[in-house]
Amino acid sequence: MRDLENLFSVTPEDIRRILRDFHSEMQKGLAGSDSSLKMIPSFVDRPTGTETGRFIALDLGGTHFRVLIVELDGKGHPAVVASGLSVVEKAYMEGTADGLFDFLAARIDDLFAENGIDRSAHFDVAFTFSFPVDQTGVASGRLIQWTKGFTTRGVMGKDVVKLLTEALARKGLTGLRVAALANDTVGTLVEKSYTDKDCDIGVVLGTGTNACYVEKLSNISKWKGGSSTGRMIVNMEWGNFNRLKRNRYDIDLDHESPNPGHQYLEKMVSGMYLGEISRRVIRDLMESDFLFRGADGKNRFAGKGSFETERMSLIQSDGSKDLTTVEQFLRDLGIHRSTLCDRQWLKKVCDLVSTRAATVSAAAIAAVITWMDPDLASQHTVAVDGALFEKYPGFGDKMKAVLVDLLHENASQIKMELSKDGSGKGAAIIAAVAASAMPKR
Ligand code: GLC
Repeated sequence: MRDLENLFSVTPEDIRRILRDFHSEMQKGLAGSDSSLKMIPSFVDRPTGTETGRFIALDLGGTHFRVLIVELDGKGHPAVVASGLSVVEKAYMEGTADGLFDFLAARIDDLFAENGIDRSAHFDVAFTFSFPVDQTGVASGRLIQWTKGFTTRGVMGKDVVKLLTEALARKGLTGLRVAALANDTVGTLVEKSYTDKDCDIGVVLGTGTNACYVEKLSNISKWKGGSSTGRMIVNMEWGNFNRLKRNRYDIDLDHESPNPGHQYLEKMVSGMYLGEISRRVIRDLMESDFLFRGADGKNRFAGKGSFETERMSLIQSDGSKDLTTVEQFLRDLGIHRSTLCDRQWLKKVCDLVSTRAATVSAAAIAAVITWMDPDLASQHTVAVDGALFEKYPGFGDKMKAVLVDLLHENASQIKMELSKDGSGKGAAIIAAVAASAMPKR
């Protein structure tokens, strides 16, 4: 137990080091020097709240693709008037560019058909594409690197708005104009800041993890353009932060991932990986005959990817004395006999892995806020989206506890707020702002 606790510990000294290293990587990223934080200018600032109209928002960022029709009333209330959600099959995640983008166009076509909207209808479109993109304009950007298990061929280095526009044309959706390309964190920040003027950081803690924040243009020394407000939202791509203490499980998982050498923080924190880290620990505990001694010889934790983060969530929410939900889960897995001690161990492993994730994400948030406001002189709302924060038992509370330990009474200046599905609505707001500067149609 002590060994495992050591492997997954994040000490107060580690947290302070994360803050320092974040600041130095942020500085380098903003200057355009080599850094694990790409610090990508998003070409947008926070909205005013007066934007109006109906927009299509597309959201591709992981296992699902969402299409939303969003209505903005000019009074700060984005409303979703219609929506469609589909699973992105492995065949698209690992196939060709045309295959993936034709799939997206087909889902828009389906939503139009369901709602009696003509295929040639005119709409401005916001494309939330939640991968590292080298943004070249508000509605253009090239994919730098796939993350979160995507390996689709023919997209890296290409302008994803162009790929989407071509697919829309192939489908006959000729009235659609892509007015904005946004990262999900940027959409999340924009949506929350529509009603909360203190919101200056957007965080996603879901399949992947990332953050964006509002930066002074004068600090973005690599940025050559202007902006009317003197500020711009910067997409950090913090999932790629690499100055972290990694253990043998992190190292093995990275080696076997489709993007070795990348996304170290994401691989320690996000929903795509926590189950897999825990599985590797449990597998080893079984192999050394420490867990489930009464089970048949078969190691049910041997299969890569077979233990999802949702399972950890279920296991950790079992508050019964005998851990009956955990017992049932083990039975379903084929482990018919387990002792209470086995089940407590299983729960403990989930706790260690998820507590480290919550601690590292809180440290990262503290790093960003102390970069913007070293003395914590102002209030900061952190808009957070993603299932880990929303659903994982105790995750948000652990994050808050880390902030209090680190910042003491100044932690009360920070408010973390769930922004459920904010990224789609936020992207529609960005499209509204961008479209107002485009030729009328
Ligand atoms: C990955 C992507 C990033 C996205 C995050 C959350 O880290 O690279 O762009 O914001 O996942 O979805």
